[in-house]
Amino acid sequence: MRQEPAVFDAHCHILPGLDDGAHTFETAIEMAGAAVAGGTRGIVCTPHHLNGVYKNPGDLVRHALADLRRRLSDAEIPLDLFPGAEIHLVPETPSRVLDGSALTYNDRGKAALVELPKNAVPRGAEVILGQLLRHGITPVIAHPERNLVLARRPQRLAEWIGWGCKVQLTAQSCSGDFGERLQGLSRRWLESGWVHLIASDAHRPTGRSPETLSAARTRVAAWLGEDAATLLTLDNPRRLLDGEDLLALAPCVTAETTPTRNDWLRFLPWQRRAG
Ligand SMILES: [Fe+2]
Repeated sequence: MRQEPAVFDAHCHILPGLDDGAHTFETAIEMAGAAVAGGTRGIVCTPHHLNGVYKNPGDLVRHALADLRRRLSDAEIPLDLFPGAEIHLVPETPSRVLDGSALTYNDRGKAALVELPKNAVPRGAEVILGQLLRHGITPVIAHPERNLVLARRPQRLAEWIGWGCKVQLTAQSCSGDFGERLQGLSRRWLESGWVHLIASDAHRPTGRSPETLSAARTRVAAWLGEDAATLLTLDNPRRLLDGEDLLALAPCVTAETTPTRNDWLRFLPWQRRAG
């Protein structure tokens, strides 16, 4: 049997009963089996937080994680699990991250996975991102390619990247499972050096499965080479867990617009008043 290259999944809804991902431990175990078959060595468990439906406070996530770890160990499935959350970008986000009720990557207080709605960028998004950055929390933007506003106006995302935000694409956007438009957009952003992570965002053992990460890795390796694919699917996810800065790919095309280092402080209310 072909051994898939090792990958590490930085966004996955495997914890059972917490959100619209796995509903039962049996489903979670199936997802873990699919992950291992696809070469996944570890998963950051990222249940939805504050998205209007699911709250999932940190302690609940920590307990669910400990439970699933035990079950995986009993089932002899070699998969490491780490705590995290997919936190909706709302005005409460910075305070929830800072008081620990919304989990950062591996509970380190360094980087947080933040989610936008599909059809809009919330009012005040720049203020919220600026507040996180000011407190030393790196926002990792979950699947911006699936946000209609950012897909149409990528210069807004480029600005966020210039401030220090990081970008996570969905594996199925890269592999083509979500259609040619999203695949083309993903490739352009990858070639522009905008992307720091690719993750499964898996919710099920099949279809939106953890196994999709290996197909995306293969596609990205064909576009950008093995080293880039390894950076996005293994090295950078591990850096997140260790609380280290993520590395950026060198752009290999001229981007439509280029992230430039600029000052997010101007989006803070008192700065705007002063300016
Ligand atoms: Fe997600």
